[in-house]
Amino acid sequence: MRTLLTTSPQRAAKFILEGELVAFPTETVYGLGANIFDERALRKIFIAKKRPADNPFIAHVANPAEISLLAERITPSAKKFIEHFFPGPLTVVLPKRTAVPSVATAGLSTIGIRMPHHPVAQALLKACGVPLAAPSANLSGKPSPTTWQNVFADLDGRIGCILKGKQARVGLESTVVDCTGRFPRVLRSGAVSLEDLQKIVPSTRMAARLGSTSPKSPGMKYRHYSPSARVAIVSTPKKIQTERNAAYIGIESPRRDQEFRQRLICEDTRGYAHALYAFFRRCDDEHIAVIYCQAVEPRGIGRALMDRLIRAGTQ
Ligand code: TXA
Ligand code: MG
Repeated sequence: MRTLLTTSPQRAAKFILEGELVAFPTETVYGLGANIFDERALRKIFIAKKRPADNPFIAHVANPAEISLLAERITPSAKKFIEHFFPGPLTVVLPKRTAVPSVATAGLSTIGIRMPHHPVAQALLKACGVPLAAPSANLSGKPSPTTWQNVFADLDGRIGCILKGKQARVGLESTVVDCTGRFPRVLRSGAVSLEDLQKIVPSTRMAARLGSTSPKSPGMKYRHYSPSARVAIVSTPKKIQTERNAAYIGIESPRRDQEFRQRLICEDTRGYAHALYAFFRRCDDEHIAVIYCQAVEPRGIGRALMDRLIRAGTQ
């Protein structure tokens, strides 16, 4: 298959309406979209990504009104989160309408819904006129793509079209909050932090960690977000015994005598989150053996960043 590269949301929308897949930019990471009501198109996502079929997709909507096409009802906590954080990097999990094919949600009776803020994503969704099911646009097991070049490296020849945009602003996947229970529960942390959510609904909690019970979010059981290189988390770069084939990313600079094949010093936690996945991919391209990553305070976006670092570091 030839993959078209374009900056035109209208050209990209034609692929969706013909049952093909389109990778598109969002403010979190690039997504791989298909018409959520087209079962054949949804199945193509699993093939293109080499993704296991028991991992549900997030539905992307152009406006809050489209939520009622997908969700049976909007729970009171979800209503508040939608009012405050849509459009943005937040996914709310709601009871699913039966009209949505069950392949979209891996057979679950719930559905994750998000309205991206990114203008190109918005333009695509409007041009399509239907909600899009869209996981991150990477091959399964690789870090999520934050640039169109990352998407191209994984999916060229496997999908119909790549809608090009700039590097994703946030750089980490959306916060996923389950709004179907008595209290909202954060299944995956992201740029909308636990503290942000608690300001709106104080009873919001983190979901139990992986391994303690069966995962509520099926995607949490896969090795995710990781480069091929080993990831080692360090409190400060000063303690690293440098090896020949190592890289470093963090906020604090290493000593002058510490040599790394790749290094990236970020301005703050936000900049670190923004740069992380593209850095992982660059290190893999260079066959780096170990990536040292500085730990950050697990607050705000720092919680999401630490979550991804810990997952990437767990082999
Ligand atoms: O930022 C994002 O969320 C990006 C962009 C493209 O929107 N998408 C994304 O999709 O990261 P994906 O498929 O890579 O991750 C979706 C996560 C998985 O961990 C999945 O298990 C969880 O969301 N999820 C989706 N629907 C769910 C549901 N109904 N219940 C619980 N977890 C759900
Ligand atoms: Mg993903």
